[in-house]
Amino acid sequence: MVKINDNYLNLKGSYLFSTIAKKVKAYSEENPDKKIIRLGIGDVTRPLSSSVIASLYSAVDEMAKKETFKGYAPDLGYEFLRSAIAKNDYKDRGCNIEADEIFVSDGAKCDSGNIQEIFSTDNVIAVCDPVYPVYVDSNVMAGRTGLFDENTGKYSKVVYMPCTKENNFTPAFPEKTPDIIYLCFPNNPTGGVITTSELQKWVDYANEKKAVIIYDAAYEAYIREENIPHTIYECEGADTCAIELRSFSKNAGFTGLRLGFTVIPKKLKVGDVSLNSLWARRHSTKYNGAPYIVQRAGEAVYSDAGKAEVKELVNYYMQNASYICEGLKSAGYEIYGGVNAPYIWLKTPDNLTSWEFFDMLLNKASVVGTPGSGFGPSGEGYFRLTAFGDHEATKEAIERIKKL
Ligand code: MLT
Repeated sequence: MVKINDNYLNLKGSYLFSTIAKKVKAYSEENPDKKIIRLGIGDVTRPLSSSVIASLYSAVDEMAKKETFKGYAPDLGYEFLRSAIAKNDYKDRGCNIEADEIFVSDGAKCDSGNIQEIFSTDNVIAVCDPVYPVYVDSNVMAGRTGLFDENTGKYSKVVYMPCTKENNFTPAFPEKTPDIIYLCFPNNPTGGVITTSELQKWVDYANEKKAVIIYDAAYEAYIREENIPHTIYECEGADTCAIELRSFSKNAGFTGLRLGFTVIPKKLKVGDVSLNSLWARRHSTKYNGAPYIVQRAGEAVYSDAGKAEVKELVNYYMQNASYICEGLKSAGYEIYGGVNAPYIWLKTPDNLTSWEFFDMLLNKASVVGTPGSGFGPSGEGYFRLTAFGDHEATKEAIERIKKL
């Protein structure tokens, strides 16, 4: 008789953003006259920029002609895109990453969920708490986490590294030495950042412990201050201990188009085994590549016009971030993030739990945010708002919250 992968039964409830979507749907059915403002999931709202659109049209035209039609993409991504990434995201920042160390995919969510497959299920993972749920859930599915404890809100074999206002939302080295360390900066959900010298300490730690860092830099385009690394490869020795995940979703608005990439330096080895080769094997076996037209759109993001458009998009969203931070501060809220990241992390008022505040905001203001406890036990008592709304809706949401 067929058996299921019963690790799935060990998952806690449904995926956070699906739970929220269900609650919002129920509210909207009960209150059809209410205008709901969604500042929950970090989904962009601005349309694609003109360089990206032009590139999509021209790639579609190529697909319409026999001479220029493209079938399967190369497994690991088209050379034109991998070279543009290597140059613009790495070499121009002084990081020695080559095109063949870059693997193009349809987004960082899939890569962050899939990357654990190349590691043994015996490895101990460490995650920041709160954390983007995909890192933990994908390890639960693989059977690496032990059982969930309802009392602590934790999986028994996962090392949780609390990130709270007391440590400025950057984790301390854990007591138990992990094998795989997930870091995300600028951080989702707290909007916190790490300085280059602090990240260097993590790189040194990982090299010393022979651990691997999985570094999610999906929000690097939002960094505005100095001394904050845009990539982990700005740290010395990161090429022997770090994998980096990147996305076109948040900088260029590709959440619906889908494009991302993973960097695995060739020097990154476990024993004699190159992780670059393992991931290449996995990628070519299970994946047929992001669509040609999307990869051409990604290339356009690196043109001069494309880069200017990304800046404009990021500025647009960061105006929301400033507006949210200032508005809520003036209303007496305790606010974090929102300076180098499109997320604002606020302390819930009157000791409300994260979900109580979620319900209050939805029911009294018709505003949707994300409860901090959905990201992990240290997120309890916090709440996340995104800066990805449009200006008018964001302003209205803040006015409504101020009136509560
Ligand atoms: C979030 O809201 O945390 C993100 O949008 C989720 C994602 O990027 O997958």
